[in-house]
Amino acid sequence: MQARKEGGVTLRETGLEVGFPDGTAAYFNYFWLRDNCRTSFDPVTRERCFDIFAEESAPQPDAAVLSGEALDVVWRNGHSSRYPLDFLASYATGTPRHDPADLPRRAWLGDHYPSIPRYSQPALMSDPALRKAWFETILTEGVALITDMPETPDALEVTAALAGYVRPSFFGTSFEVMTHINPTNTAFTASALELHTDLPAEECAPGVQYLHCVANSVEGGNSVFVDAVAVANDLREQFPADFKLLTETDIPYFCEHDAFDMRARQRVIELDAHGEVSGVSISQHMADVFDLPQDFLDLYYPAFYRFGRMLQSEKYVMRFRLNAGECICFDNHRVVHGREAYTATSGDRHLRGCYTDRGEMRSCYRVLSGTGRFG
Ligand SMILES: [Fe+2]
Repeated sequence: MQARKEGGVTLRETGLEVGFPDGTAAYFNYFWLRDNCRTSFDPVTRERCFDIFAEESAPQPDAAVLSGEALDVVWRNGHSSRYPLDFLASYATGTPRHDPADLPRRAWLGDHYPSIPRYSQPALMSDPALRKAWFETILTEGVALITDMPETPDALEVTAALAGYVRPSFFGTSFEVMTHINPTNTAFTASALELHTDLPAEECAPGVQYLHCVANSVEGGNSVFVDAVAVANDLREQFPADFKLLTETDIPYFCEHDAFDMRARQRVIELDAHGEVSGVSISQHMADVFDLPQDFLDLYYPAFYRFGRMLQSEKYVMRFRLNAGECICFDNHRVVHGREAYTATSGDRHLRGCYTDRGEMRSCYRVLSGTGRFG
């Protein structure tokens, strides 16, 4: 097919070229144009209602012209489409759509405790702007403290529900961190709990974790939190070969007891679409026996060991006492957490925990940012 030029538009075989008012021009594929006609989206369901697979052949235009601030296309089957030029311009270079929830992370070190943003639970319940600030804190720093938690049995779930649906794990909808008689997890004892992220033995480990402190009158039992992004970024700079191994190698995790046998493989360091560290999956109590070639382990274990040692270094470790009435909320893929041992007979220590997902928190943040396509 010969290129046809008419009204500021050049029609080619597989797509057309549009001249924009600023003098630039861009090419758009006919499938893409037909699929993204405004009539392809139902204004009520806000979903795509056009089925391009039902077309008998590849879409071809009969005519296309610029009129004012829009491109008008008449397709061979008679359908007409109108595309605002600013819509076309926003897709002209193939760069991903702007995402307000894609925020740069601010790494923090062991002295972060006084700077953790605090949000009062009753205020979060009533103030959407405060909820947006809370979500932004989790997206950028990974940890926030929620204060003034009501003393009601459902306070944890009600609070978590502000950020999405509570997401069960194989331990159930929520869990109780206290000394259990027949513990299925080190968390349910009075022992020290090494730095870890929760449940890497699940294929999709929980994204956001909430720990509501109902009681804490024991001796010891301080919380220990580390920003794995800070540690992994330093590892990347100081030991790039180790960093590469930890971002590319899947290692096995497990959690097995009488009624479950969970297994999943995870990379210790996770990267996002920009190649930045987005989090980690690490848990020695859930690490399975590494079933990797022994000569590869000659390389892998030193890297794993070095990273684990770095995580524990005082530069990064934030120690604090979680008080009754507080709920700590954190990104379970970013904030590596643990607990110092405590004396079970010295008082009560009771934390209630649950999870939501990262994607749902980002969704809540986008809604509060008002940047939807249908806003
Ligand atoms: Fe945990």
